[in-house]
Order: sequence, then structure tokens, then C-alpha cells
Amino acid sequence: VKSGSKRLPKARWPLLQQVVRSLHRNRGSHAALEVIYRDLFVRELALLGVEDRCFPVGSAANHSLLYLVLRCYVELPVRRVLDVGAGQTSLLLDALRKRLGGADVVTLEHDPAWAKHIGGKVDHPVEVRPLVPTEIDGRTVLMHDLTGIEGPFQFIIMDAPPGVRRHSRYGLLKLVEQVMDRDDFVIVLDDADRAGEWQTARACARLLHREGIGFRHAEVKAAKHQWICAGGRLEPAVYF
Ligand SMILES: C[S@@+](CC[C@H](N)C(=O)[O-])C[C@H]1O[C@@H](n2cnc3c(N)ncnc32)[C@H](O)[C@@H]1O
Repeated sequence: VKSGSKRLPKARWPLLQQVVRSLHRNRGSHAALEVIYRDLFVRELALLGVEDRCFPVGSAANHSLLYLVLRCYVELPVRRVLDVGAGQTSLLLDALRKRLGGADVVTLEHDPAWAKHIGGKVDHPVEVRPLVPTEIDGRTVLMHDLTGIEGPFQFIIMDAPPGVRRHSRYGLLKLVEQVMDRDDFVIVLDDADRAGEWQTARACARLLHREGIGFRHAEVKAAKHQWICAGGRLEPAVYF
């Protein structure tokens, strides 16, 4: 099992090392990199002949998330995308599909009005899925109702439900177990700069280890951070 782009010597005090690394992870500001990712995103959209109609502001996807979505879609052999949380990512995926064809996309959204709004702008299904209490690893968390959602998905974009303080978006582990393609996959978890999402990223890595699924992982840091985790033919995504 491969994991982590960086390897450290075995720690004498693994828990202490983990705490120190967690404290240092967000040191310094990476917000300036937002401009770099914006430039790359705008350049690539122009080269593809796709009009830039995104509003990457507020709680919506920021430019580094849109950059990652674009690169994964364009450069990797992705057949099916699960877009959790409707918004700018859904609009971008729709534009890429219309321009390049390729992958099937399913968006999950808990807010019926927002699902209707975004669903009216895209050609792929935006499914209204209420958030339901879901048991994962002995915890009860809120996650979209996944009844009838069939995998496998190679690309999972986890940008919802709205964040909570602990074990945020923990439903990602359910998606890994139930609908993720175990051979070829890339997961992008947004807001990994927040403690709750980072907890989920670490739990997800542990789950993949337990399941014997090979993967690498990395973080992309700009106005927000994304945790990116990939395996099989989609592993190059961790170097994006
Ligand atoms: C972080 S946002 C999802 C973002 C989405 N993937 C994107 O790229 O914009 C999480 C949730 O916020 C809500 N949301 C996002 N933008 C919204 C808006 N402009 N109005 C109302 N709700 C919004 C939706 O319920 C969405 O699932």
C-alpha cells in the first residue's frame, strides 16, 4: 500500500509528531496562490474554448478547486463523476461535458431550491437528496441519502454538506465503501484547511489502508485547501 507523497522516518512519538504536523500544516498564508490557480484555470478554459461563467466566491468553489476539477476531467480517464454539493463545480462539469463529451456526471444536493436552480442550468442529473443521519464507524453524521445511487464513480468531488466542527463530510467514507471505483479513483475533498474536514481526510486514508487499496495523497493550498487522494490510473492527480 502506497500512501503519502512524502515519507518521514518512523517517529518515536507518533502521536506527538502528528499533533506538531497538524499545527504546522496551515502555517503561513497560501491565499496568494489563488491568483496562480485562477490564471491557470482561465488559460485552460480559453484554450478549450469554454466560456468562463463561474463565480468562485464566498462559500462556492474557489479557483484551486475549479482548477483541480478541470485538470482531473481533461487529463484523466474518468468515466463517471459524483459531484457532492451543487454549485460552481456542477456548472463547470456541465460546460466541460458539452465541450469535450466524456464522463457522466451526477450531482447530489440537499437543498431543493438550490438543486432546482443549478439543475435548470446543466444537462446532467442534479438529484435532491436530503441529509439523513448516517452511521459510520460508530458515529452518526449527516449525509445525503444515497439510496439507489449506483457506482462505480472514478471521480468524487466532496464539497458538501455544509461544514461542521468535527468529522465534517464524514459521509465520504460511505462513498468510498459503496460507490467509489476501487481500482481507479480520485477524491477531492474541499475545505481541508478546516479541522473537521482534515479529520475526515485522515479517517479516509485509514479506511483505504484497512481495505488494502493503494493510494497517494496531497494537498492543494490557496484561498481554501483541497485534499486530493488518488489510486490506480488516476494516481497522477496527486501531482496536479
Ligand atoms: C460549499 S457549497 C457547494 C459548492 C459547490 N460544489 C460549488 O462548487 O459551488 C455547499 C452547499 O452550500 C449550498 N450553496 C452553495 N451555494 C449556494 C448559493 N449560492 N445559494 C444557496 N445555497 C448555496 C448548497 O446547498 C451546497 O450544497
